[in-house]
Parts: sequence; C-alpha cells; structure tokens
Amino acid sequence: MSEGILLAKVARGTLLPERDRLDRLRSALPQIEAALAGETDPVALQATLACLLWETLVQANWCGFYRRIDDEMLAVGPYQGGMGCLRIAFSRGVCGACARTGETQLVPDVQTFPGHIACDDATRSELVIPVRAGGRLRAVLDLDSPLTGGFSAGEARLLEGLVDRVFGRALDW
Ligand code: SME
Repeated sequence: MSEGILLAKVARGTLLPERDRLDRLRSALPQIEAALAGETDPVALQATLACLLWETLVQANWCGFYRRIDDEMLAVGPYQGGMGCLRIAFSRGVCGACARTGETQLVPDVQTFPGHIACDDATRSELVIPVRAGGRLRAVLDLDSPLTGGFSAGEARLLEGLVDRVFGRALDW
C-alpha cells in the first residue's frame, strides 16, 4: 500500500518564496523517483507523476500530461485539477509551443503569451516541459497556476531532469 510522499502540509493556492519551493521540490524528487522505481508503463508513470507533483506543487491548479497522438496533435492524459481541454494542436497555446519546439515553455504571465488557451480563466502562469522517450517527443507535462509567476526557471530545470530520468526508460510508447 503506497502512502504517497512526506511533505509539509501547505494550503493549495499558496505561492511559497522560490527558495522554499525549490527546497520542497528537492525533498520530493527522491521520494517520487522511489515511488516510480522499476515502473516502465507510460500511463502508470504519467498518472503517478501527476498525483505526486500535484502534492508537491501547491501553487498549481492543474498538473498533468498532454500526449502526442498524431504528428501535430496532443490529447489530454492523466492529470489533477479542473477539467482540461481534450485536444490541443501543435499550432496552439503554450502546450502546442512546447510540443512544436521541443523546448520548455516558462510563462510567468499567460496574458503576454499570444494564443494561450484559457481552459481555466483563473490560470495566470504556466510551465510546460517536453517529455521524450526513445528519442521522440511523446507528451508534454503541463503545470498551470492561478498565481502570476507561479513557476521559476529553477523549478523548470529540476522538473526537466525528473522527466528525462523517469520517461527515458518508458517502454511501449
Ligand atoms: N493553457 C494551456 C492549455 C492546457 S490547459 O490549461 C489544462 C495552453 O495554452 O497550452
């Protein structure tokens, strides 16, 4: 029986100072990787990561995956938070920009991002990280926050490392 991960209780919607967010994420990472140890199924990995990153990133109102289902189309995958858009073309939004370029998109204020898709009107900032397995872009990890500047470059780097380590071994994807 899994009991998730051990972190201090912090109310959802809190924007901790960046140093505290990095400490919290650094303490969660080994616990998350231990929880996923040995797992290679992409859905099991995505679902469990969505759950454990949701526990860790209390500033988020959405946390989950959009999977590449075609050359230029994403479909929603496992997530936590309010209902997300079902499909996102590569040409649209922050998730599309990440899938198109293969680059992490850190958007401190979504109102400054042309073409941002407002699945939830409350969203103010966003971080989207490419997920590769077998040398191909398979999905993006989308993190949204109702707070402006909800995510930092430091958090982006730590999460990129996590995603690369976890999905580098995903099979049958
Ligand atoms: N805001 C995202 C769309 C996904 S959802 O908000 C869950 C975007 O612009 O890509």
